[in-house]
Order: sequence, then structure tokens, then C-alpha cells
Amino acid sequence: MAHDHQHNHLVQMLDLDAEVLEDFHRELVGWAGSLVGDRPRVVDLGAGTGTGTLALARHLPGAQLTAVDVDDEMLEHLRHRAADAGLQDRIRTVRADLDGDWPALGPADLVWASASMHHLADPARTLARIRDTLRPGGAFMITELDGFPRFLPDPGLEDRCAAEMDRLRREGGMHMHENWGARLTAAGFDLAGERTFELEIPAPLPPAARRYAQVTFARMRERLADRLSADDLAALDDAAATAAHRDDLTVRATRMVWVGRRPS
Ligand SMILES: C[S@@+](CC[C@H](N)C(=O)[O-])C[C@H]1O[C@@H](n2cnc3c(N)ncnc32)[C@H](O)[C@@H]1O
Repeated sequence: MAHDHQHNHLVQMLDLDAEVLEDFHRELVGWAGSLVGDRPRVVDLGAGTGTGTLALARHLPGAQLTAVDVDDEMLEHLRHRAADAGLQDRIRTVRADLDGDWPALGPADLVWASASMHHLADPARTLARIRDTLRPGGAFMITELDGFPRFLPDPGLEDRCAAEMDRLRREGGMHMHENWGARLTAAGFDLAGERTFELEIPAPLPPAARRYAQVTFARMRERLADRLSADDLAALDDAAATAAHRDDLTVRATRMVWVGRRPS
């Protein structure tokens, strides 16, 4: 049951991220689109609820897309969204654990991995597989985040949460804060682009951004329930409970993007 709640919060967080940071996602998809031709084959690794897959399918009407994830529920959510948008004919889903044996995914013109590379156990092995999945000259766009977005005016509570989340992720073997540019080069890619986006939405927040804050606080509380002080847990509960009506919240998020090309 606890897992279901956590899962539900993650699904909501991913969908709200897409809605609230819409301008950023649009810019990213435009960038990805500029890297490929008219009828590209696109692979979305760790596709989640399909933010990238669906946005790429809309932006690239000639594209065929493969969304890969280990999680059946995510893929089911993605298939529903694809059907609702009338995009099901161009999107196939593949359930696979990308730390295990890979299904046949290539040759791809574009591989996209958003907030998923840090989950995979062995970055060098994964990058070698991605290079082999791309056709010569194909592009790999990787997007990563520095942690959960921030919302509160005073940094103390979110600083303590971020430090604990970092510790938790490190203990779980996750690869946050990697230098993916250096890793791409070491894996035989040509580094074709690298950008950091500092995203900000000012107060007062629109309703979707308030829900994003609320769900983020709730997810942080779940993940850190046995790691934070009782005072901090109560403060997170309060932040979640009041997000809908207080006017001093803002959204601040950092996203890093790298593009590698498989040499022709
Ligand atoms: C933070 S979500 C990002 C989802 C989506 N790319 C986005 O940007 O909204 C990470 C996704 O990676 C998937 N994932 C984690 N480990 C994986 C693995 N070993 N194989 C395949 N997918 C994995 C998770 O199930 C989850 O859907």
C-alpha cells in the first residue's frame, strides 16, 4: 500500500512537471527536433508517464517512437495518454529493465533519456549500449535534474530535505550529479551540446504549480519519513497542507542537458 501511494505521487509529479514546466519542455523538444530529419526513429529510455514520448510525437509528425520503461504501470499510463491524443499508431511501448539484457531498439536517429540515466546502475555500459542503438550520426539527448524543485521562500527545510535525498540516492547507487559530458566523450560520442536551464515561476503560483508543490512535499515526506526530525516532517506536512492557498511560493528548478552524437 505504501508503495502504491509513492507510485501515485511519482506519476502525479511527472505529469505536473510536464504541465508546470511546459515552456522548458517545449524548448527541449524543439532542440531535439532540430537534431533529426523528417521521419526519425526515436527511443525514449525510462519514458515514465510519457512526457518526452508524447511531446516528441506531437512535435515530429513523421516520427516513430519507442517508449521503454521497467514499470508496467508507467507504460500503461503512457499508452492511455497516447490513445487519448490519437498518437497510438506511432508509439510502441517496450517493458524492459535497462540494467539487464536490452531488447532490439535500434537503429535509432534519436535516443532521449530524461531524468532516467541516474537510475541506471552502470553509466559506461549504458552509454555503450545507447551508442550501439544509434545509427552513425544519430543523436543522444540526456536531461538530468539536480534534485526536487524548490518552492518555499526560506531555504532551510528544503536544504535539509535535499541533503537527505542526496544521501538516500547515493546509498541506493544512483548517479545524480554526474558529468555526463565527460562520460559521453569517454564512451565515444562527439559532444554536440551542453546547457543548464535555471527555471523559475514567480509568485503567486497558478493552480497546477501549487499542486506540483503539494505533491513534491508529500513525496519528499514519504521518502524521508525515517530520516528527518519530527519538526521537519511536521513542517513538510504543513507546507503540503497550505500550498493551495499561500501566495509566497515560487517554483525553482535546475535542469542540465547534454547532446552526444555517434560519429558517422
Ligand atoms: C524520474 S522518471 C522520468 C520519467 C520521464 N522520462 C520524464 O522525464 O518524465 C524515471 C523513469 O525511469 C524508469 N526506470 C528506472 N530504472 C529503470 C530501469 N532499470 N530500466 C528501465 N526503466 C527504468 C522508472 O520506472 C521511471 O519511469
